[in-house]
Amino acid sequence: MSLSNRVGSVEVAAPAKINLGLEILGCRDDGYHEIATILQAIDLVDEVRLHPGDRIRTLHRFPGIPDEENLAIRALLMLRDRFGSHQSAVLELRKAIPAAAGLGGASADAAAALLAARDFWGLEVGDAELAVLARELGSDVPFFLRGGTALASGRGDNLDPLPSPGLSVIVVTPHVAIARKTATLYAALRPSDFSDGSRVAAQADRLRAGLRPDPALLTNSFERPLYALRPELADLVATMRACGAPHVALSGAGPSHFALFPDPAEAGSVATRLQTALEDKALVIATRERSVPVGTGILDR
Ligand code: C5P
Repeated sequence: MSLSNRVGSVEVAAPAKINLGLEILGCRDDGYHEIATILQAIDLVDEVRLHPGDRIRTLHRFPGIPDEENLAIRALLMLRDRFGSHQSAVLELRKAIPAAAGLGGASADAAAALLAARDFWGLEVGDAELAVLARELGSDVPFFLRGGTALASGRGDNLDPLPSPGLSVIVVTPHVAIARKTATLYAALRPSDFSDGSRVAAQADRLRAGLRPDPALLTNSFERPLYALRPELADLVATMRACGAPHVALSGAGPSHFALFPDPAEAGSVATRLQTALEDKALVIATRERSVPVGTGILDR
């Protein structure tokens, strides 16, 4: 793993993710749900930097988010309290990943903060120990310690790496806010939304065989509860189809949707049409998968 280190600061690129299929199998005894999903890092990255400072805090306070609620700050405090002593750092976060969008932005930042701080503070903490902290911070934080492509099971924290399929992606994030989105959508699930994980397993088999993802297997158990809560999202899907994205899928608990393309040029022209059609109702991003491991310096890209 290489981390960029400029004049006493450490920086890590924190990539967003999409879900190449997400099935919820049922409820667990610990209050969480058992899931099966394929997590795919994409080349939409937040820049996470640590600088010397008097105490653990953000450089630019985010409007409406006190530092105590910032998952990356919680990650730094947890790492220091478990493995450090009196270390401090100022966290600079340059956001490109839309917040609460189903793209894992907060989790990606938290994982990047753990990786950066281990290096910045010179702590002797192994990857397995870091993964324990990541799991406590959130179910999908462990994935972002490595990135790439992975089959995730359990709460989403048991990871099995997969080969990268080689994808261009359009991500569309509508300006739709849902309070406590992830917990709200998990709570809105009905038993009829649960499935056996066989579609995600079949998709994983395709990737292992070097095949592209099958659009028919990009189903997501949050579709019914999300569209019930926000019926206007049906228009978004229709617009994406009309603009040349025939297979539209939901990422995480939404509201971001995405479409896959074998060819970056086609993704780019569909994205341009889409942004024109959607005006300011949604953010449209044309990107691609990101297969380099998390930790690679931003400046090396
Ligand atoms: O793990 P994380 O903090 O991201 O989860 C947020 C909430 O989403 C949990 O409190 C739980 O309500 C729900 N959740 C779940 N099953 C999972 C992951 C999350 O029920 N596998």
